[in-house]
Amino acid sequence: MKQAPIGIFDSGFGGLSIYKEIKALLPQYSYIYLGDTARAPYGCLSYEKIYEYTLEAVKFLFNQGCQLVILACNTASAQALRTIQQTFLPKNYPNRRVLGVIRPCTERVLDWSQTKHVGLLGTRATVDSNSYGIEIGKFAPELILSQQACPDWVALVEQGEVISESAQKIVKRNLDELLQKDPHIDSIILACTHFSHLTSAIKKALGRTVRIIHQGPIVAQALQNYLIIHPELEQVCLKTHSEEIFTTGNAEEFRINGHRFMNFTTKPLKISLS
Ligand code: DGL
Repeated sequence: MKQAPIGIFDSGFGGLSIYKEIKALLPQYSYIYLGDTARAPYGCLSYEKIYEYTLEAVKFLFNQGCQLVILACNTASAQALRTIQQTFLPKNYPNRRVLGVIRPCTERVLDWSQTKHVGLLGTRATVDSNSYGIEIGKFAPELILSQQACPDWVALVEQGEVISESAQKIVKRNLDELLQKDPHIDSIILACTHFSHLTSAIKKALGRTVRIIHQGPIVAQALQNYLIIHPELEQVCLKTHSEEIFTTGNAEEFRINGHRFMNFTTKPLKISLS
């Protein structure tokens, strides 16, 4: 079978924080990154819309030849991944794979918490899906998970407002809400690609030692392990170090914003998905 790049999808440029770690750990492969910036944010959309948009993105990456696609978006992983894996792939592409960001984190969640009380910060759609709760129930049923939707945080990051006084206030309000749900939380999963950009505001607002769990390195490590145990897929991954970046929004804007997440030199290309 013809070799092809690994596809990486996010609703926008937030997923570059995941891609950056994947590329650093696995530089030998070729990648295609797609950000659906024109239709982001996904976090406030309905299940139907998130599924429709994510499926269009997966089809686009499959049309580029990708045999393996990573949904680097929590919202897409939470709302669309299961249906894609259980319905769309078996019917249409039984040999191709689509993986998400939730499983790699929930598999390792017990490594991080002493108290077994873990917090999660995500978009409204990620929290409402309870996908993390369902997965944690499989791997660590004794763990107590408290979740907090942070509907304003994605916009803060997109506007580059990560250290302003108003950003600090919004971050503190949501963190207080989370810690009120469970004061024994000792670890917090940043279950949204954008949120690691708010790390200093989060640390400041926490005021005590809480482990902050960033997904990028975890997802990269999980992909490396996956490719080791699935040599049939590893063999069809192109290894020419090439990179293509596609966006549904403005390509120049994507390049500028993308630099805040990852220092790439590739010129993004604008495409249309719908
Ligand atoms: N990339 C999305 C996620 O990780 C956040 C941005 C959005 O709402 O589209 O959940």
